[in-house]
Amino acid sequence: MIGFYREKRKMAMNSRPQARQVREKWDLASRFFDWITWADDQRFAPFKYRLFQKVRGKTLLVGAGTGKDFRFLPHDGEIVAIDISPKMLERAALKAQCFPGTIELKEADVCALDFPDESFDTVLSVCTFCSVPDPLQGMREIYRVLRPDGKFYLFEHVRSRIGPLGILLDLLTPLSRRFGPDLNRDTVSAVRNSGFRITREENIYLDIVKWIEAVKR
Ligand SMILES: C[S@@+](CC[C@H](N)C(=O)[O-])C[C@H]1O[C@@H](n2cnc3c(N)ncnc32)[C@H](O)[C@@H]1O
Repeated sequence: MIGFYREKRKMAMNSRPQARQVREKWDLASRFFDWITWADDQRFAPFKYRLFQKVRGKTLLVGAGTGKDFRFLPHDGEIVAIDISPKMLERAALKAQCFPGTIELKEADVCALDFPDESFDTVLSVCTFCSVPDPLQGMREIYRVLRPDGKFYLFEHVRSRIGPLGILLDLLTPLSRRFGPDLNRDTVSAVRNSGFRITREENIYLDIVKWIEAVKR
């Protein structure tokens, strides 16, 4: 039965050209991703250590990437980590082996999840909604799979509201999008517009990198 759903989802994903393009882009990026994000990893590690401790219960990690963030997660939870890119997941599998707790890896598009309704206590997204072509659809899926009062945590980079910085990010986005993420997403509004109640917003860096806490109403 699980195999049937996996095949059905794979067929749906293959038939969506946008999802296929996203997967191919991140498959390619997986080769050098750890190198180009090394400096940001060092800079943001203390924030992630502090904030990811809030994760509780059965948790969905959206956009696992190469698994660099596994080390910040509590060891005692039940974690399912998804990504649309199989090449990213291949690298994540190596890091999952070193994780003292349990992480189940799954190839999945956040816009078309095959988890039942209300099956997670927490969803954590780290720098993923800069890359999902239809963030509202992805967040509606997250809303569906979270239990009532479930928590949605996001560590994301967004379009800065600091005047010239926001304009610079707008200008850079057509280029950055070709190889990686959009730099000018309004992720805070997307969280709100997908039905969540935002309970906290912490500015981590220049109004670009943010920690957002939201709850399913
Ligand atoms: C900027 S990378 C971040 C990876 C990781 N979270 C990190 O911070 O190191 C964005 C990730 O989101 C994944 N992604 C993009 N669109 C996705 C989607 N629709 N569903 C699931 N994962 C997606 C990409 O494959 C990629 O691994």
